[in-house]
Amino acid sequence: MADHDCICTQDKVKEYLELMAKNAGISDLTDPALAAYISDSDGLRHLRDLFHYPKCGSLPDVDASLVDPSSDCIYLCGHSLGLMPKATERVMNEQLQKWARMGVYGHLSGDLPWAYCDEAAIEGVARLVGATKSEVSVCNGLTVNIHVLLTAFYKPTEQRHKILLESRAFPSDHYAIESQIRLKGRNPEESMIVMMPRDGEECLRTEDILQKIQEEGDQIAVVFLPGVQYYTGQLFNIHTITMEAHKKGCLVGWDLAHAYGNVPLQLHYWDVDFACWCSYKYGCTGAGGIAGLFIHDRFKEDKRDRMLGWWSHKMSSRFQMTNELDLDEGAAGYRISNPPIHLVAPLMGSLEVFNSVSMDDLRSRSCYLTGYMEFLIKHFFDEASPHRRSKISVKIITPAEFHERGCQLSLRFSVPIDLVYKELTKRGVAVDKRYPHVIRVAPIHLYNNYTDVRRFITALQVVVLSVKGDKNGRSFVTEFENRRHDYGVHVQHYIDVDPNNVPTLSSSFEVVTSNIVLLYAGSEIAEKIFNDLKNTTISKVWLINEDASYSKNLPRGSKPFEISLPKHLRAVTVNDPPFVYSIPASNPNDCQGLGEVEVPLSGIDTASVPNSSIDRSFQFSLHLNDSYGAVVVSHDSRDFSLSGALWELDNDKADLAIGGMSVNPEREHYVDFSEPWLYHGIKILEKSQNPSVSTMQSFLQPLQSSLWTALFVAVALIGLAIYLLDLSSPFHKFYSVKLITENGVSSNQKYWKTPIFIQNLKKVNLR
Ligand SMILES: Cc1ncc(COP(=O)(O)O)c(C=O)c1O
Repeated sequence: MADHDCICTQDKVKEYLELMAKNAGISDLTDPALAAYISDSDGLRHLRDLFHYPKCGSLPDVDASLVDPSSDCIYLCGHSLGLMPKATERVMNEQLQKWARMGVYGHLSGDLPWAYCDEAAIEGVARLVGATKSEVSVCNGLTVNIHVLLTAFYKPTEQRHKILLESRAFPSDHYAIESQIRLKGRNPEESMIVMMPRDGEECLRTEDILQKIQEEGDQIAVVFLPGVQYYTGQLFNIHTITMEAHKKGCLVGWDLAHAYGNVPLQLHYWDVDFACWCSYKYGCTGAGGIAGLFIHDRFKEDKRDRMLGWWSHKMSSRFQMTNELDLDEGAAGYRISNPPIHLVAPLMGSLEVFNSVSMDDLRSRSCYLTGYMEFLIKHFFDEASPHRRSKISVKIITPAEFHERGCQLSLRFSVPIDLVYKELTKRGVAVDKRYPHVIRVAPIHLYNNYTDVRRFITALQVVVLSVKGDKNGRSFVTEFENRRHDYGVHVQHYIDVDPNNVPTLSSSFEVVTSNIVLLYAGSEIAEKIFNDLKNTTISKVWLINEDASYSKNLPRGSKPFEISLPKHLRAVTVNDPPFVYSIPASNPNDCQGLGEVEVPLSGIDTASVPNSSIDRSFQFSLHLNDSYGAVVVSHDSRDFSLSGALWELDNDKADLAIGGMSVNPEREHYVDFSEPWLYHGIKILEKSQNPSVSTMQSFLQPLQSSLWTALFVAVALIGLAIYLLDLSSPFHKFYSVKLITENGVSSNQKYWKTPIFIQNLKKVNLR
């Protein structure tokens, strides 16, 4: 059996279009009428009706003034989430109703007993991946299955401990591999071989992978690669890579997230050791749908250590609950938990569609559909195409060879993808963007047709024209302006360049002391700017847009030295002798134009500083201001204004202020002071507002009036306490004194009389 059976080529697509155009009596291959004609005569067109196909009006970012909300949207995002098969709704509802009707009995009764529901899907799934039934399980999520498989198959030894993966591996795969290496007590830096495409290329070449395996195969425990690469859409040569890696004694595993349901697979025949996939992309099982795994029959009897659960146990004795594991065979023995019916039901729904058509027919349809899209993109947007109407060009980074790709094309634009993506979504186009550079589009062989593809091209034609309006960076600058305040970014200078007449910028750049330059320009203009600023660019950090990055003379190579050291130091001072900066002058003319002055290095203790560490090109300039300035804060403390030298510092007119300025909290709030170089003991004396003070006032002055009051109250309370203690004292008995007080109050009465006492106390002369 041939690998990735695809005998289609771009020439064949063209031949097919020409034939169909002839049949339809259409002369232009890009004519939307041709797309409509092919869609109508397509033998698999009925598949679209098996799906719920969304309308423009139900997509969240659609602008109803640009598209008819009741029309079909342009759904080209099945590589991310496939559309919902109508059958799924039915199967799901059946299971929900069964649950409502019979509760726990649903585990073993009904047409899809939940306890074995996953097994009902095995045949269909095995067919899609080219495996025997014992080689496939459906369980868990994709990343969990990567862990399940690597836990069992990655058994590093001193000699063989490396895992070969690709540099753009999906983050989840990368993390899973990294963590597995650590969990096995090894260091990812030593045990991960991360393969990068060649310089200037997007995709890995099979020959380079094979060479790497040849070179390092003896140390490679596992080769783990994607069937279809998520970013570029590249379809790897699974068979050849697996065979070559086996020759070197490596195990080979594949992440088939973007291959399952997309391209025909022959995992058994290709001798793949293990593989896993998710089912929610081309498999159309809904977000987070159940994943699958493949273990070659070679390992059917193999009882290697792995992650276990009660579902790893053979069904025949599973429920005897003996805690003595009777491991199930093949892929079934890698299951852990009981199958989730709410995830299996959508899988059953999707298999109803896949079972109604052969994967080869789907692949053939897919090749022509994607080939048609490629033809139109090249026709209208390729940089070299005479039909390109917009400045914006599109490059397809997915391999051009049909046997090296599935249905996805990854498009790289000559402008930032966000701009294009936003405009597309407004027009009812569902695609996705993947940073750093691509928009992924995939006409899906199950439910898309030629008209969807042609409508996408029309939308893109409009979009590139509207995005083109930003070629001078207007909306970029507006967006930047809106956001920079949140981050406190200060802009020193804006330079607007007319694209038709790029001026010489070197003179405007002389005043630019900022270390960071933000450039938004087309590649040609950027090239002129970099040329013009050859000497200046080197000392700056340039943040540039993608298009500008295509300019051939990008400043490169040297570390910007100005990032921490400005070349100019602008000092401000106040004519305030004796603290003024002075320059020895031999005649009065020397004192004129106190503008830019070279600092004489002799003024520094050069003896103790190595000559090489002083930057002699440093420019020092000094100018005068009338005052050091003050901080005036508004009444509600929300606003403030600065004046004099302080204002200059705050407004970036000076880097430094020199002078005898006193350090006070208000000033410190807005500027940083150096350590004071003079502490003087001088106090400021102020004339009192109320000089005449009476003798009594001067007696009371050391204590505040509140303290005096507290003192008097304390004395009164102590007196009262002593009096009360005295009255209830038992010593009266010993002295046989009548329990009548001097003022005739009995001991029972005394508590009642206390308030009166307190009143009278005021009259008592305390001694
Ligand atoms: C290539 C690849 N690997 C792994 C994942 C992670 O899948 P999951 O979140 O289902 O574990 C994805 C998800 O899109 C993927 O595309």
